[in-house]
Amino acid sequence: MALLFLCDGEDADVWSAALRAEIDDLDIRVWPVGVGDPHDIDVALTWQPPRGVLASFPNLKAILSLGAGVEHILRDPELPPGVPVVRLIDPGLKSGMVEFVTMEVLAHHRRVSEYRAQQAAGEWRLLRQTLSRDRRVGILGMGHLGTACGEVLGRFGFPVAGWSRSEKDIPGIESFSGEDGLFALLERTDVLVCLLPLTPETEDILDATTLGALPPGAALINAARGMHVVDDDLINLLDSRHLSGATLDVYREEPLPPHHPFWTHPKIVMYPHAAAWTLPESASPVIADNIRRTRTGQKCIGQVDTRRGY
Ligand code: NAP
Ligand code: GLV
Repeated sequence: MALLFLCDGEDADVWSAALRAEIDDLDIRVWPVGVGDPHDIDVALTWQPPRGVLASFPNLKAILSLGAGVEHILRDPELPPGVPVVRLIDPGLKSGMVEFVTMEVLAHHRRVSEYRAQQAAGEWRLLRQTLSRDRRVGILGMGHLGTACGEVLGRFGFPVAGWSRSEKDIPGIESFSGEDGLFALLERTDVLVCLLPLTPETEDILDATTLGALPPGAALINAARGMHVVDDDLINLLDSRHLSGATLDVYREEPLPPHHPFWTHPKIVMYPHAAAWTLPESASPVIADNIRRTRTGQKCIGQVDTRRGY
């Protein structure tokens, strides 16, 4: 039994040390050079696996994502059928995302970009302040991350609502679901946060129709996936001043190509997919637990419904 480490760009030595601190005799094979006999591999830990690679391990029993999203695994047309795919539910990812979303909601709320532009222009001018109870936050995706962000934002006094596939009962957070629920949430939202998984149903969900349903002056924070946003529609709504600003962490193509208009748009704040990292020191115990579960015939924590896509 061996763990396949199939995460191009990640430091295999650091991850190996962190995972061996959890399971001391863990046999780790690093793709592509250190794989050895493919029959030995029973669990794969992966981020953006090249198409077809996972199909080459005949004894694979679980595919663990190194992140919360799993679309990078499910898009493989040769994904071995019947092998469970598992998303990462990690306290470090959760706290990182809560910090990021809170920081950016507060930045839109307190007009940080406008103050920075005034500073650059040497301009001393007070901008109107709004009470948090008058700034409505809407969150698309009330899963592990969306719920945690909503709970913290509620403590600042923002009226928070969330949209999910199923109705939720979370104290202090208004719940919306279904297509009617989506537009009802958008119409009452001043800062929209996207934390949806990328699936065929959610791809391109932030377009002229949905973003246009936000009240004039609303702002967008997309910390989910770039494919949720129709780029030209977002730019048109910012240029027409329907939207006041957007924070983007994720893009249709990453790294964002050098000539993409987002880079220089005055109303866009960009991050290089940095909202929440998977850190070995917090994620290793979670990953180790799922390796043990797989090897003792138990269901992993975070197993996804591959038909639903998350
Ligand atoms: P999760 O726990 O699986 O939650 C997903 C939420 O989206 C659930 O509330 C689900 O509804 C809802 N949803 C899915 N499809 C829907 C649809 N068609 N209509 C309405 N609601 C729908 O996921 P998570 O762990 O919170 O992570 C969310 C995403 O964040 C990840 O998939 C990843 O793309 C992104 N992410 C980004 C970063 C970054 O650094 N930028 C870091 C981590 C994660 P139900 O509750 O009803 O099922
Ligand atoms: C990061 O984008 C993740 O899905 O964890």
